[in-house]
Amino acid sequence: MTDHVQQKARLCVLISGSGSNLQAIMDACHGHMLHAEVVQVISNRADAYGLTRAQQAQIPTEVLNHKTFADRPGFDAALADLIDRCQPDFIVLAGFMRILTPGFVERFLGKLINIHPSLLPKYPGLDTHARALAAGDREHGATVHFVTPTVDAGPPIVQGILNVLPDDSVDSLKARIHQLEHVIYPYALDRLIKGNVRYRHQQAQWADGRADNTPDIIRL
Ligand code: GRF
Repeated sequence: MTDHVQQKARLCVLISGSGSNLQAIMDACHGHMLHAEVVQVISNRADAYGLTRAQQAQIPTEVLNHKTFADRPGFDAALADLIDRCQPDFIVLAGFMRILTPGFVERFLGKLINIHPSLLPKYPGLDTHARALAAGDREHGATVHFVTPTVDAGPPIVQGILNVLPDDSVDSLKARIHQLEHVIYPYALDRLIKGNVRYRHQQAQWADGRADNTPDIIRL
């Protein structure tokens, strides 16, 4: 045994729904692909299936119902307290359907990571698959990025790209993008945990010297 074994990174994962990205991250931790552990899962919805996934993996869960707070700052303050309690290295937004206040984002800048189902800066916001199809895009994908106060505008870390097929529908595209997300989210977290990329001066800065905000690209 070596006398110095590096501690696993502590991940706090925020969800609102199915949690398939959470599952991919838990599997990557479990399979030792990620030197990390999910120490806490927080959902703003009590019926999120991701909570069941976490409980099955014996990971502590919390529900923080946004409807019980008078305003966004109140909810975000309670969320920040829960997060602080578990001392995470990274706060992983995995289908967390809440817009976060600038104060919250500033407090955790550099540790807050999100996945968005489009090739940002294309299609921030909702209905990304329908918008990509309507525009006749030949490629579509997903982006893992640092979270900054402007929604879906933070520096990209990894982009997954796939070809749009001639007979793709919103549902078929969505299903393939989901599979792609399950590859790129654990991959991006691995890059972060290893210190290959970090948030500095409002940019994603790479240790390998490449230009800032030049994401890794994964094609499926
Ligand atoms: C994903 O498509 C992700 O890009 C978006 O929300 C969805 C979450 O899916 N932010 P799941 O709950 O991880 O299955």
